Amino acid sequence: MILYFSGTGNTYAVAKAIADNTGEKLLDMGKAYRARDFEVKVEQGGLLGFAFPTHRWSTPPLVDEFVKRARFVTPDGKPYEPDYCFSVETYGHFPGTESGFFAKMLQKYQGITVDAAFAVHSVGNCLYLFDTPSDDVVARKLASADEAAERVAGLVAARHTGDTVSANPLGAALSLGTGHEGKKRSTKVYNVLADKCVGCGTCATVCPTGTVKLINGKPVWSGEHCTECLACLHFCPQSASQHGKVTEGRKRYLNPVLGK
Ligand SMILES: Cc1cc2nc3c(=O)[nH]c(=O)nc-3n(C[C@H](O)[C@H](O)[C@H](O)COP(=O)(O)O)c2cc1C
Ligand code: SF4
Ligand code: SF4
Repeated sequence: MILYFSGTGNTYAVAKAIADNTGEKLLDMGKAYRARDFEVKVEQGGLLGFAFPTHRWSTPPLVDEFVKRARFVTPDGKPYEPDYCFSVETYGHFPGTESGFFAKMLQKYQGITVDAAFAVHSVGNCLYLFDTPSDDVVARKLASADEAAERVAGLVAARHTGDTVSANPLGAALSLGTGHEGKKRSTKVYNVLADKCVGCGTCATVCPTGTVKLINGKPVWSGEHCTECLACLHFCPQSASQHGKVTEGRKRYLNPVLGK
């Protein structure tokens, strides 16, 4: 069983490559979180994988919450123990020590040891920091991410052990400030360009936390659960939803694995 969380498809592409190579099932933590369904039924033994994007040199809050609240059980209701557990993160710029933070969380809340950690460099989607690169650069990065995903899939199939993620020194330093539990993401900064928004509701449909709601035909962001995946920006067909002012005019990005 491979549990994944993905805002714009990069992590889904990696999780899918591993699932295709190993015959494992996929579980979307975003969908499960939205339904507040934290029971994971999985056959005893076998492999358990977690795939997530790097957010602020740490794990996304939604992944933390899932790890805390999940109940891993066998189909006949017994406590589940994996034979082999791995994590794989995708990142757009440079990693920190999030793989270690994730492993500590999983041990603390589930008593599960992570046997191997991997990372795949993909396209950066943090639109309020960086614009999406040109089509050529995106194509080059995606080709190399696909190759890396295949390599990781081979290592997982061979039950490779060890943390293969080499933290960038700056990333490791930044992780010191962000690698903690109880991360909060404010919704105050989200807004919509009313003249561009066509009220299609896509932003609300794709939000994994139920933070975006359509009120009088326009999106409103509220509550305590935003995980800052930026799906509500990147999926908007009109580029109308914004994070502050800086995302206006920046190009939206979705991994082609999503078939959009
Ligand atoms: C809020 C936010 C924070 C991010 N922080 C980092 C980071 O600390 N380091 C990094 O290399 N990439 C960072 N990224 C980029 C994502 O990790 C990267 O684009 C990832 O592949 C996105 O995966 P997804 O398409 O499955 O959501 C960040 C993206 C977002 C939206
Ligand atoms: S996805 Fe974009 S156009 Fe559609 S409702 Fe949301 S902001 Fe408006
Ligand atoms: S409000 Fe936007 S950024 Fe926050 S969880 Fe929902 S889709 Fe992701």
